[in-house]
Amino acid sequence: MNIGIIGAGNMGAGLGKLWAKAGHQVIFSYSRDEEKLHQLATSAGANAKAGTLQDAAAQDIILLAVWLPAVDEVIENVAPLDGKIVITCVSGLQPDFTGQTVGLATDLKISVAETIQQLIPNASVVEAFNTTFAEIIASESRQFGSDFPSVFYCGNEVEAKQIVAKLIEDCGYEPIDAGNLLVARALETLATAWVQFAVSSHLFPNLGLKALQR
Ligand SMILES: NC(=O)c1ccc[n+]([C@@H]2O[C@H](COP(=O)([O-])OP(=O)(O)OC[C@H]3O[C@@H](n4cnc5c(N)ncnc54)[C@H](OP(=O)(O)O)[C@@H]3O)[C@@H](O)[C@H]2O)c1
Repeated sequence: MNIGIIGAGNMGAGLGKLWAKAGHQVIFSYSRDEEKLHQLATSAGANAKAGTLQDAAAQDIILLAVWLPAVDEVIENVAPLDGKIVITCVSGLQPDFTGQTVGLATDLKISVAETIQQLIPNASVVEAFNTTFAEIIASESRQFGSDFPSVFYCGNEVEAKQIVAKLIEDCGYEPIDAGNLLVARALETLATAWVQFAVSSHLFPNLGLKALQR
């Protein structure tokens, strides 16, 4: 697949590298340091390159991996993204890990992911990776003993979710379909609880969330 990464920080760099390694064509974008983008692309291998925000937004699949305050600027510069699959891992969590998700703490009454979908109504927004820690994404393997952590994802379009599920697998995680985009309200809140637990237990970042099945 052709994947545009918007936000070349912990999440964007980590996921982009894994996808490039899995054979996808990846464009890294949206750093304030252009040299960082080029170095990142070089370290990600032959399937990766650096590009502009618009280059990344022109790909079939886009990962939005920026801090919440940057979302408006990004969307304004790349909208409308018609027909694209937009994966968002953006959370409303404060950088110091305090504070609640947007859905519960503001007048919006909806999730970050739904807000993004409203801004780009003709794109298929899928929320994923909110309960994964970038440190695990950047590590050698996602394996914990004999297990691989689950990644819950949600979105309104079945085909888009099937593609995202494969991309989750390509990163070494187990994809779990949590339902339509409305569920992002719960997943973003789950992410907050998960981070709070990780910090208070002093286990951060060496944790993987797993849905047991039988
Ligand atoms: N880190 C995690 O473990 C984790 C887990 C789940 C979800 N998330 C969510 O994923 C999103 C990305 O997190 P992250 O840890 O990858 O963030 P990050 O490392 O700070 O990366 C953010 C990226 O956005 C870029 N950017 C461009 N303009 C910016 C501006 N004006 N202000 C801030 N950044 C700007 C940064 O540029 P530079 O390259 O110039 O810094 C950087 O490449 C966030 O919404 C976060 O809540 C993070």
